[in-house]
Amino acid sequence: MFKWFSRNEIERDIFSPNSGVRCHFALKSGRISYAVYKNDKLIIKPSKLGFKICGEAPLQDNLKLIRTQVKKHTETIELQWGEDSYINNNYTEAAFYLAENKDSKRIMTLRFRVFDNSVAFRYEIPPQPKFQRITIKDELTEFNIDLNTVAWKIPAYQPDRYEYNYEKAAVYDLKHSVHTPLTLRTQSGCYLVIHEAALYNYGSMTIELSDQQVLKTDITPLSDGTKAHVDLPFSTPWRLIMLADSAIELTTNRTMYALNDPPAQDFSWVKTLKFIGIWWAMYVGEWTWAPGERHGATTAHAKEYIDAAVRLGIDGLLIEGWNEGWEGDWLENGINNKFTVSTPDFDLEEVASYARHKGIELVGHHETVGFIDNYEKQLESAYNYYAANGVHYIKTGYAGSMMMINGRREFHHSQLGVNHYQKTVELAAKKHICLDIHEPIKGTGIERTWPNLLSREGARGQEYEGGALSPSHACFLPYTRLLAGGMDYTSGILDLANSVKRMATTLARQIAYFVTIYSGMAMAADRPFIYEDRFPEIFKFIRDVPTNFEKTLPLAGEIGRYYVVARKDRDSADWYIGGVTNEEGRRIHISLDFLDDGVYQAEIYADSDDAHYRENPFGINIQQKHVGRGEALDIYMAPGGGFAIRLRKL
Ligand code: NOJ
Ligand code: CA
Repeated sequence: MFKWFSRNEIERDIFSPNSGVRCHFALKSGRISYAVYKNDKLIIKPSKLGFKICGEAPLQDNLKLIRTQVKKHTETIELQWGEDSYINNNYTEAAFYLAENKDSKRIMTLRFRVFDNSVAFRYEIPPQPKFQRITIKDELTEFNIDLNTVAWKIPAYQPDRYEYNYEKAAVYDLKHSVHTPLTLRTQSGCYLVIHEAALYNYGSMTIELSDQQVLKTDITPLSDGTKAHVDLPFSTPWRLIMLADSAIELTTNRTMYALNDPPAQDFSWVKTLKFIGIWWAMYVGEWTWAPGERHGATTAHAKEYIDAAVRLGIDGLLIEGWNEGWEGDWLENGINNKFTVSTPDFDLEEVASYARHKGIELVGHHETVGFIDNYEKQLESAYNYYAANGVHYIKTGYAGSMMMINGRREFHHSQLGVNHYQKTVELAAKKHICLDIHEPIKGTGIERTWPNLLSREGARGQEYEGGALSPSHACFLPYTRLLAGGMDYTSGILDLANSVKRMATTLARQIAYFVTIYSGMAMAADRPFIYEDRFPEIFKFIRDVPTNFEKTLPLAGEIGRYYVVARKDRDSADWYIGGVTNEEGRRIHISLDFLDDGVYQAEIYADSDDAHYRENPFGINIQQKHVGRGEALDIYMAPGGGFAIRLRKL
């Protein structure tokens, strides 16, 4: 297992618990590198490691090994909510303590964790004489993968942040930096995802093809051109490489959560939530965010929606447009948004007390438009205002192409952006408030430590329907964005043929989303009258489907083409299955071998044979039958369609 040369010249293999994954660490001529093998196939060729540091020599050369520490770790982690109750945290860890040979003698540790389905590593820089606060000029980490590898990517540094369509390209063709999770398939058929875990106090990692034609980190810069200012000791986020033999196997890789710390305080007050909202009515032009004749967030409308939530059996209500700041061009004027001042026609105290009496949780709303200086000035009082009114959930938003922080334009995913989002999560935790962050920093598993961060957006959601979403989009998400955690996709819009926002989906697919796209805060996004008056039978599934699952079993799929997943409810013996397909219709054979003994009532919502996302979006068959283990279901998904099944244990 170990090949020793001298302390300046070492090579070392770190095997995963079942030996299927191997990370090869090397120190040669004072330089460090790593490589990754899966089943003895080289997946990531020797790749450089290190940093450029402002005002200092790079931390990369003239290194020698001082000490190595190896340990095995076996653990089952219980998660408070999510897609799985239990996840494995089984790995072999090797920590390499390095020091420079030169006069400066700076020290650094590289810590690797090798899992049966992932490799992760991070840099740890301890405090040391004359080296206590550093400015990172560049992180030099490479992911040296074959250039013919295929990538599914969205571009970084664009005005709409993560809200782009996924595109497929060969690695040699990556012309611009791309976001992580970056999903890849090698020519030999290995699937991998480059991502990061536990992103704190550092620029988010984007990936670029360097001039030397190697994939490398491109840490999001600050406006001063540097990547991060940090005090020592400092650890980078984990650089995470997930590995799988199939695309579908990737979708339940939970290493990102295992790399985050357990919660340090009591979060038993956190509860996942399903909610409706004073929301889609604004998108289809019936109401407005801004005050005026058609203002959505009035006291009267809020009470009507609270009553509707009660009738529908939905626990929460989001209210957008309730505060001062939406008048005129709200994207331009957001610098003045007030988060403790309601519009004259909205009385938060009255609405909150009404909601409390009816047993409905309000979801507050803070649209910051990225004006962080304005928001942070009000943060404490804004959260206190909601908390004092018994509001336990807030949806935040960061529309705008850049953030304004300390009077300067910064990227949302820069170190200062990362720190701002973290500040909101920690303050919310203090006030017992849960967050659903739109235009967020991408997920890196911190909700393991901060379970009050129930959801994020961070990809194109259904607000892009009406032209900018193709049926393939929701077939990319499980293999890309959703590897970074749950998403508020604003599912369940059943008014498909609305002339302002025409949906490119079938009916069955809208309810499938509640299973295929997990969210700890799941929005039933359409207006209540659509559910009550037009589609009560379909709404039944939206009401029934849980927001917290015990187990997730991906059943079938291919990136961008289709995805079928089964999930077991955390609070009952029931299972839910959802499927979505791209523009191609297809028939899916589902073996029910994963069920327990006994009889289940299957409630099947499937596209009719003549359904089609453009020609006939409302074509649906709802069917009930008894099924059990050993049986199978054959389900048709129409072009742009999908299906949803509830398996109720009798
Ligand atoms: C964009 C968010 O994604 C959307 O949900 C919200 O309604 C608008 N911004 C306004 O805040
Ligand atoms: Ca958005």
